[in-house]
Amino acid sequence: MTFLTRKKPINAAAHFDATTRLTPTLSWPHLVAMGVGAIVGTGIYTLTGIGAGLAGPAVILSFLGCGLLCACAAFCYAEMATMIPASGSAYTYSYVALGEVVAWIVGWSLILEYTVAASAVAVGWSAHVAEFIHAAGWPLPNALLHGVMSGGLVDLPAIIISAVVTVMLIIGTRESATVNIVLVIIKLSALVVFVILAGQAFNPANFHPFAPYGLGAHVDPDGVKRGALAAAALIFFAFYGFDAVSTAAEETKNPGRNLTIGIVGSMALCTTIYVLVATAALGASYFSDFSKSAAPLVYILILLKHPAFAELVAAAAIVALPTVILVLMYGQSRIFFVMARDGLLPNSLAKISRKRGTPVLMTVLTGIVVAVMAATLRLDEIALLANAGTLCAFVAVSVCVLLLRLREPNRERAFRTPMVWLIAPICILGCLYLFFTGLPAFTKWWFLFWNSLGLVVYLAYGRRRSNLAGS
Ligand code: ALA
Repeated sequence: MTFLTRKKPINAAAHFDATTRLTPTLSWPHLVAMGVGAIVGTGIYTLTGIGAGLAGPAVILSFLGCGLLCACAAFCYAEMATMIPASGSAYTYSYVALGEVVAWIVGWSLILEYTVAASAVAVGWSAHVAEFIHAAGWPLPNALLHGVMSGGLVDLPAIIISAVVTVMLIIGTRESATVNIVLVIIKLSALVVFVILAGQAFNPANFHPFAPYGLGAHVDPDGVKRGALAAAALIFFAFYGFDAVSTAAEETKNPGRNLTIGIVGSMALCTTIYVLVATAALGASYFSDFSKSAAPLVYILILLKHPAFAELVAAAAIVALPTVILVLMYGQSRIFFVMARDGLLPNSLAKISRKRGTPVLMTVLTGIVVAVMAATLRLDEIALLANAGTLCAFVAVSVCVLLLRLREPNRERAFRTPMVWLIAPICILGCLYLFFTGLPAFTKWWFLFWNSLGLVVYLAYGRRRSNLAGS
């Protein structure tokens, strides 16, 4: 077998975690909370402004489109998660259905997705800290609150939060269900408060013109890609994180019913809230007023003369966003760990510390990369890059679902994607369309560069060191 035809046998993949099979304890309310906890973050709290700047009020359509696309992807994830309940998500599914080379590309893209997305959330968090510091009148210069690519020198709060989350991961912090529910309530309450206050200042005139940059995507003379589709390629960031729900498949009671409610419920809830928040924001203030702010919801409340509530929303973001970073960095370490276990990356990097029980070296390295990117780069650029990796993973998972329906029709699936021959192709085509027409050229170049680097690493290392080499 050459490296081009290597595939992980489905039984081996599905068997891996069977010894540590978890007791099914979760029901749909837990899953909805888990999904909302992982999904609601920097996307709605900060990218709403940048997205509105790219599309005008038509950004509402971008939110709706992304919600639909991500719901389709979430179904496919859930089917794969119940069929192959092993860690590694899209990487492991691809190893079984599409072979080692594609799995490597997907895994390498996921490393990018999780690391870069964690940086983006750190920058969004920092923007809210900056608002808070300004409101409190503390003397911290702007140069220390924004990265060099965003008009500052270094984003100090982003470095601090990356370091704090890294330390939490090293000492073995996992999200706890109770903390998650409290944080979900805080995050959602802040958004509801925003909708109520901004809703009172609603002025339909702010919705005209509805799509000043059109519904598609085009590059303007200033080199920026605009239009509702271009905004969708950015806003997409606000929706992922729901892999958290599908990875809980193993622990779910009656997964056929509860996973469906958990996935559809968290997606529907987030999409509804996002559309309400975006509508309230756009109705309260013309989009160009707030599109330059990195904390647009806070900014609008200040414009509307609600300074105390503005601080409350900033405080909610400060308290609740770090768990999103935690989930993303944890996901990254899981993918890296599984790839190293398969022999594709050096085991020494993913070695579990005997003292701590966590992969210390890799966590520190990830933390450094997250902090450096967050401290220097622009939020929209990093979010777009994270989206490229995620779109790639979504396509792979949807293809895996279809291939395994053909190849393994009789294998037990606790959850089956409804109307799979419609849902999976919608996800594949939608993600490819968003990738190729929505993302700006520089994001695609960076993505290509990252995966070319990945292929060099694979050819030089993984191809020979893979556990399947010589089989
Ligand atoms: N969906 C997550 C967020 O918006 C990544 O922060």
